[in-house]
Amino acid sequence: MADQKSAPGDMDAESFRRYGHEMVEWIADYLNHSERYPVLSRVQPGEVRDALPARAPERGEDFESILGDFERIIMPGITHWNHPGFFAYFAITGSSPGVLAEFLSAALNAQGMLWRTSPAVTELEEVTLAWLRQLLGLPASFEGVIYDTASTSSMHALATARHVAVPDVRQRGLAGRPDVPPLRVYCSDQAHSSIDKAVMALGLGHAALRKIPADEAFRMRIDALQQAIAEDRRAGIRPMAVVATVGTTSTTSVDPVPAIADICEREHLWLHVDAAYAGVAAILPDRRDTLAGCDRADSLVVNPHKWLFTPFDLSAFYCRHMDTLREAFSLTPEYLKTTEAAAVHNLMDTGVQLGRRFRALKLWMILRYFGAEGIRERLAGHMRLAGMFAGWVDDSRDFERLAPVPFSVVCFRFHPPDRAASEQELDTLNARLLDAVNRTGEVFLSHTKLDGRFSLRLAVGHIRTTESHVARAWELLQQQSAALL
Ligand SMILES: Cc1ncc(COP(=O)(O)O)c(C=O)c1O
Repeated sequence: MADQKSAPGDMDAESFRRYGHEMVEWIADYLNHSERYPVLSRVQPGEVRDALPARAPERGEDFESILGDFERIIMPGITHWNHPGFFAYFAITGSSPGVLAEFLSAALNAQGMLWRTSPAVTELEEVTLAWLRQLLGLPASFEGVIYDTASTSSMHALATARHVAVPDVRQRGLAGRPDVPPLRVYCSDQAHSSIDKAVMALGLGHAALRKIPADEAFRMRIDALQQAIAEDRRAGIRPMAVVATVGTTSTTSVDPVPAIADICEREHLWLHVDAAYAGVAAILPDRRDTLAGCDRADSLVVNPHKWLFTPFDLSAFYCRHMDTLREAFSLTPEYLKTTEAAAVHNLMDTGVQLGRRFRALKLWMILRYFGAEGIRERLAGHMRLAGMFAGWVDDSRDFERLAPVPFSVVCFRFHPPDRAASEQELDTLNARLLDAVNRTGEVFLSHTKLDGRFSLRLAVGHIRTTESHVARAWELLQQQSAALL
């Protein structure tokens, strides 16, 4: 039966059912066989745009032909984060229960700005974040809220720290105020760029962020932090917050949070922990130490959309002073006033966003479907695979490891001993190797710079990645490096 798209109203139920079934078949096939696509998209810049009409259609089109264009035009422009050979950046992973939950969430289209605009959105978020908090081993003094990304979470952490440092900032701002000295935020030189963006967005200025040098294992140096704070105080700058990272983006190093917490307590500074990637490792009893000292942080972010099988996006933000965050952000226009406001939390009060997607649904379904046991097994499996790969690098004559491997990311480079090469030549050689390996379409690796050296990065994180995929990546690296020489 043809779509009844010309009639007013939505797609008719029969068409929805038909395309819905077709799409579930398509998705099931895709998730099981994403290897059939090159992992890194091969389209050229502008290719997708040029294949699409410049204007929206005047008349509705058959869903059949829209799906046809999805396959023909959109799919070639997709880099397959679901491909088990995806080892780049943080190989974030969704999962089938998460996909199904997103389907339901889209169908409900519930918007959780107020408790009454869907009580279940608010309350499931509270319950699910309490479950996750317990799994992480964090105390009940942390209240949680879901944001889209860790960038948004960290920005809200620092906005709350700013509110504590300058209590009338909400009313008077910071500009042109001789009564407010320059404020300072500290993080290591390995911290994520979202911290830079947060200080810029909050009107502190990029200069307000002081990057503390890291030690040989890429962890924030405590002596340097202490010295920087003392120097700043002497110079009339007001220290405001420290951002510690648990699982830095380049090497997944872990800052010494207990020692940083000591300093923050002594100096009365807000401590925010960016555990976006590695925080979830604390779900494993033998990796509880991952979040050591974090119970003393003022706020912390973990990203289930990175390494907890949750389709993008879902960032879990925990704060020990959520009321202060609400104080910084809540603002209720007349048309959003409700009679139950004193008895409930309205999610719109917890940050800049008014509308809230029903993200908790997917995390709830994922935690239930896999169970803590299933999650632990999978996380441990990823760390085992990374350890195995690191072992191959260590045993190899031609490759060397450039950083410790605390979780599931390996930083390494090609460095054949019989080729006297300058650091610059090695950088070029490794950049060419990366390109060659990625061009095979079988794997996708990324890079970083460590102590100025170009480093390849292999991140294991996808739920469907197995030993054979990691072994194939190693085989390709050896084949392609031999070919380069
Ligand atoms: C340590 C760390 N923090 C924050 C982020 C930002 O994550 P998001 O994309 O959720 O903002 C990343 C991204 O990789 C990260 O590695």
